[in-house]
Amino acid sequence: MAEPAPVRWAVLGAANIFRANFLPSLRAAGGGEVVVVGSRGGRRAAEMLAREELQCRIADYEGAIGTEEVDAVYVALPNTLHVEWAGAALRAGKAVLCEKPLGVDLSEVEELVELAHGARAPLWEAFAFPFHSQYLRAEELISGGEIGELREVVSHFHFPVRRPDNIRWSPELAGGALNDVGCYPIHLAALLFRRVPGRALVSATAAPSGVDLETCGLLEYGGGSRLLFSSGLSRARDTTTRLVGTEGSLELTDPFHPGAHDTFELRVAGRPGKRERLMSDEPTFAPLLRHIHAVLRDGAGPRHLAINDSIPTAQALEWVRAAASRESGR
Ligand SMILES: NC(=O)c1ccc[n+]([C@@H]2O[C@H](COP(=O)([O-])OP(=O)(O)OC[C@H]3O[C@@H](n4cnc5c(N)ncnc54)[C@H](OP(=O)(O)O)[C@@H]3O)[C@@H](O)[C@H]2O)c1
Repeated sequence: MAEPAPVRWAVLGAANIFRANFLPSLRAAGGGEVVVVGSRGGRRAAEMLAREELQCRIADYEGAIGTEEVDAVYVALPNTLHVEWAGAALRAGKAVLCEKPLGVDLSEVEELVELAHGARAPLWEAFAFPFHSQYLRAEELISGGEIGELREVVSHFHFPVRRPDNIRWSPELAGGALNDVGCYPIHLAALLFRRVPGRALVSATAAPSGVDLETCGLLEYGGGSRLLFSSGLSRARDTTTRLVGTEGSLELTDPFHPGAHDTFELRVAGRPGKRERLMSDEPTFAPLLRHIHAVLRDGAGPRHLAINDSIPTAQALEWVRAAASRESGR
């Protein structure tokens, strides 16, 4: 049988994440190609495409979305532009992979998810980790009762942002630690607990620009379940995470963007710890893109759609923002 035609992507924004992860992942995943990059203009997009040896058109954002042969749009823009452009792509009938966080507050996410419910094509928020083999293994071990009942997710996401012109320092573009990296532990807890928190205690520190430099806190999910998270933009990279149950724990050095050097260990009280080799050198969007291609090309059933996954995370982020603003008003 003939191979189905590749999924044709438009990318909005000559973004670092497009160059550093989406593109190598697309090349690793196969089954898709970039046909147009949407850009505000300037030299950056053309220079990036030349460096990456990618031959495709450059248009403005509207032109990229409106390109007839495009099947799917990857929105790699600053956080404040996600809802506007993911919405425009959905309205044009395209499948959409939109960068996290999907919106800058709960009402934005609700608006986009409502649009996605009536859209002809699916919407995913670009959390790649639920598609990784180690996340699937963690889910399998937890649902199989290996660590007893999951009670606590302890999760960090820190990395240093050095350039002063990075979008993460911009309050106007909704930068800051929580939106950039704190959303990962919160999304992880939302997926694993499948509940919305009922209480939040948060501590945040501000960067000179006014965005949060670090945000850490405690979210309670009822029944003795909680997330303890810590996120920031000024420390050495640290993504260590423990999923703690009543009988044992899973310890992951990076549940979010695992590389070949990362480790995954099951620890059960009274037994020696057991490490498993689940990681590869594959760029971390590859399993997500393979899944999207399978849905769009082969009619596979979609998983982790924004209509199912994004609201609980946006609700938890709203709890954190409210608790942080209460704390700063004291
Ligand atoms: N899922 C993940 O693993 C992951 C990892 C990193 C980042 N992200 C997300 O991806 C998004 C982009 O992050 P990034 O670090 O790749 O950003 P970046 O390198 O700064 O790229 C953002 C792009 O947005 C466009 N843009 C439009 N208006 C802009 C403005 N006012 N200022 C700056 N750029 C503007 C620019 O492209 P043009 O000039 O070509 O239009 C720019 O290249 C963010 O939402 C971030 O949270 C996700």
